[in-house]
Amino acid sequence: MPSQRQSAIVTGAASGMGHAMALGLSQAGFDVLAVDVNQTGLDTLPATIRPLRADLARPDSFAQVVDAALAAFGRIDVLVNNAGIGQASLKPDQRRSPIRFWEATPEQWWRFITINAAGPILLANAVVPHMLKAGRGRVITVTTSLGTMVREGYLLYGSSKAAAESAMAVLAADLKGTGVTSNVLVPGGVTDTPLVGEAGDRSKMLRPEIMVPPLLYLVSNAAAAVNGRRFIAADWKTTLPPVQAAKEAGAPIAWLDIARMPIEPT
Ligand SMILES: NC(=O)c1ccc[n+]([C@@H]2O[C@H](COP(=O)([O-])OP(=O)(O)OC[C@H]3O[C@@H](n4cnc5c(N)ncnc54)[C@H](O)[C@@H]3O)[C@@H](O)[C@H]2O)c1
Repeated sequence: MPSQRQSAIVTGAASGMGHAMALGLSQAGFDVLAVDVNQTGLDTLPATIRPLRADLARPDSFAQVVDAALAAFGRIDVLVNNAGIGQASLKPDQRRSPIRFWEATPEQWWRFITINAAGPILLANAVVPHMLKAGRGRVITVTTSLGTMVREGYLLYGSSKAAAESAMAVLAADLKGTGVTSNVLVPGGVTDTPLVGEAGDRSKMLRPEIMVPPLLYLVSNAAAAVNGRRFIAADWKTTLPPVQAAKEAGAPIAWLDIARMPIEPT
């Protein structure tokens, strides 16, 4: 028999925001499967969180994650698509010395698309059928600020994240009325994690833990009907009741609020 506790998969949970969100969900009473390619980072999580070493760049990893979650918990209520790579992995000082569009190699492009776009899309693709069967579920995807998607030197990171954002908007549209939802959550600025490399004074950056209050709202009963939205953690006022904070920190997913014809008639 499946337990009455809800379960969550958090990718990229060995470090940074994924680590903070896995802890936050666990402390809120969720059974958490922490997925990452980095075993050393997974080893720093408390024993209450179940670790799974998986490389989400591999096509066989999605079934591996779903099977592990179902075997451990018997259900999947939440998917937090958070794993990602940044351009500092190619060039630590890339903020000062941008990687120009024409300098990016095809191999780099495929790697960013594979991990930052295909990863969250294909994992959602593998998880959502189980949520549809249960008639409930939350897919929460960490993309990036809309400005980062188009900024100078950001071909690899920006356009791979834009692909993930647009895919999650399509998922939200397809999920309407099913009880399963798709929303985006971003920190809203440079956040103090290894991903950003040499990005200046770390004491001025956002803390990874700012993701936790909006995440806990998104997995709560109060957010059961919240679908197709994007939330900025830096705008989340913890002093307000969560529903009010969500109003202030939320907007339509992707670029729907500036689209002239968001939904074409069929
Ligand atoms: N740090 C920022 O300023 C910032 C801003 C906006 C969005 N983001 C996004 O937030 C998310 C979390 O990043 P973070 O800043 O906490 O960085 P991080 O490097 O601390 O965490 C990312 C995690 O993803 C894991 N990962 C990478 N490739 C993987 C793979 N192939 N398979 C499994 N796991 C893999 C890494 O091992 C790492 O533990 C990312 O999607 C990132 O793009 C970060």
